[in-house]
Amino acid sequence: MLEVDNLSVSYGRIRALKGVSLRVDQGTVVSLIGANGAGKTTLLRAISGVLPIEQGSIRFEGKPIERLKSHRRVAMGIAHSPEGRQIFKSLSVEDNLRLGAYRRNSGAVEKAILDIYETFPILGERRVQMAGNLSGGQQQMLAIGRALLSAPKLLLLDEPSLGLAPLIVEQIFAVLDRLKSAGVTILLVEQNASLALAHSDYGYVLETGHIVHAAGSEQLREDPRVQESYLGI
Ligand SMILES: Nc1ncnc2c1ncn2[C@@H]1O[C@H](COP(=O)(O)OP(=O)(O)O)[C@@H](O)[C@H]1O
Ligand SMILES: [Mg+2]
Repeated sequence: MLEVDNLSVSYGRIRALKGVSLRVDQGTVVSLIGANGAGKTTLLRAISGVLPIEQGSIRFEGKPIERLKSHRRVAMGIAHSPEGRQIFKSLSVEDNLRLGAYRRNSGAVEKAILDIYETFPILGERRVQMAGNLSGGQQQMLAIGRALLSAPKLLLLDEPSLGLAPLIVEQIFAVLDRLKSAGVTILLVEQNASLALAHSDYGYVLETGHIVHAAGSEQLREDPRVQESYLGI
């Protein structure tokens, strides 16, 4: 579904990605793990098109997308739940969701919003409240819900567990498992490597802009180098 080939991205003179290649097969959950500053967020931003690339190619369902504007990529089925959530704190929960409903007719949007409230009942209960008044976990649910409003085929998720209590993290990962069962393909960025690998089929390890390991999640969890550097074993 997604094929990234030899991708390089720089911020001015800082090269954040140095020839990264990865693939995400339809219907799978793929995790991208790595230390702070490794380039994980940069890779998701390049795929969703909010950051220009320097070199390489990105193909989605066989079509090159690296030159398309980000809204075109959303329309093709790529949604991005960004690091730090980036919700509109002074808008209501429901208005935040509507903003994710890119180019969908209003009937479909209303139905999709109800689906999100079914997935995250707390968002339904708090739908008229200002998003800024939600807890961190609820804001994360809102960020994921907003991304889902575009009915994505591929969901890019950046650090969904960051700063959240274990119980909330568990709820969010249970939703990711359900989305996978519903056929959504997920590229998951996480600093919590053991959690990410436990919920994914395949994993990549990024170190200072390079992929250094790639394998099935089970195999990565058993790799002594991965255990030592990322799993604290
Ligand atoms: N807006 C930016 N301007 C300059 N450098 C940046 C910017 N964003 C990220 N970087 C640098 O790019 C590298 C990768 O960052 P990032 O993709 O955020 O890593 P990660 O998400 O893995 O923590 C880091 O060295 C970071 O300092
Ligand atoms: Mg990041």
